[in-house]
Amino acid sequence: MLESYESVSPTAILTSYPRIFTDIPYEKEIYEWLSKNCSEEVQLNKLLAPEIEARYKLANTLLDKQNVAQVLELAAGYSSRGLIYSQKGYKYVEMDLEGVSNNKKRIINELFEKNNNLHILSGNALNMDDYIKCEEYYDSSKELAIINEGLLRYLTFDEKRTVGQNIYNMLKKHGGVWITCDVTPKKFIKKQDEQNPTLNNSLNTVTSRNNLNDRFEDENHIREFFGEIGFKNIEIHKFIEVKDELKSFNILGIDRNSCDELLESALVAILKI
Ligand SMILES: C[S@@+](CC[C@H](N)C(=O)[O-])C[C@H]1O[C@@H](n2cnc3c(N)ncnc32)[C@H](O)[C@@H]1O
Repeated sequence: MLESYESVSPTAILTSYPRIFTDIPYEKEIYEWLSKNCSEEVQLNKLLAPEIEARYKLANTLLDKQNVAQVLELAAGYSSRGLIYSQKGYKYVEMDLEGVSNNKKRIINELFEKNNNLHILSGNALNMDDYIKCEEYYDSSKELAIINEGLLRYLTFDEKRTVGQNIYNMLKKHGGVWITCDVTPKKFIKKQDEQNPTLNNSLNTVTSRNNLNDRFEDENHIREFFGEIGFKNIEIHKFIEVKDELKSFNILGIDRNSCDELLESALVAILKI
């Protein structure tokens, strides 16, 4: 079973690459390490930079608004977020599958100063026991933020439900909030196909887990699906909210308004129980 999730792991390189065309700290160093040490064949696409930068920055903006100082990032991949927030004093645990988390540990050890607030664990977001392994790094009297970008879109609705139930259980224990950039609606995939005609086909080939049937219909579907798991308070945001913060347009010479419809259709949900 785990094997089929490992097929998603090369996409972590695919999302790391566009972040080098932004002002996000450490991304260039991380990607340079990946380009020297990883041999996975993925189709790199710098035109993904505005949406990947927006996703990263909106998640940060929403995290900053929560009154939390401890975070669990699921499927963290090669993102620099954990490194940055742990340096700010957050207790930060990243969980990803074994191959990616082993690489990430090497990246952190080889390129950056030791940081006792950052912990990289290998685990499967569908497995509740792996969440329990994270507990030792948290203060049980304080609230927790769980965050993820680029995981649920590769999961079926049954698998998304399992992840949602695991997160619900964690928040029931700790209190806090789930910030997920992965409530991909069908409309967003249609826009992505218009702007990047080869992207989703290439993701289908790499992961065999990039199915249009696994996308949400619309906001109502998102609210209904997570409401059934038990989430009561669901707030939806759009990538376009951080348009003014995006540097990749200038860096790559892309027209600032050319991605408006795409950024308007891409959603992030904040969920509380
Ligand atoms: C598209 S990448 C996103 C990585 C990172 N969040 C980013 O935005 O760059 C998807 C990630 O999901 C991880 N992944 C896939 N299935 C998983 C699972 N069942 N449990 C934990 N991580 C998983 C992969 O290893 C990969 O790192």
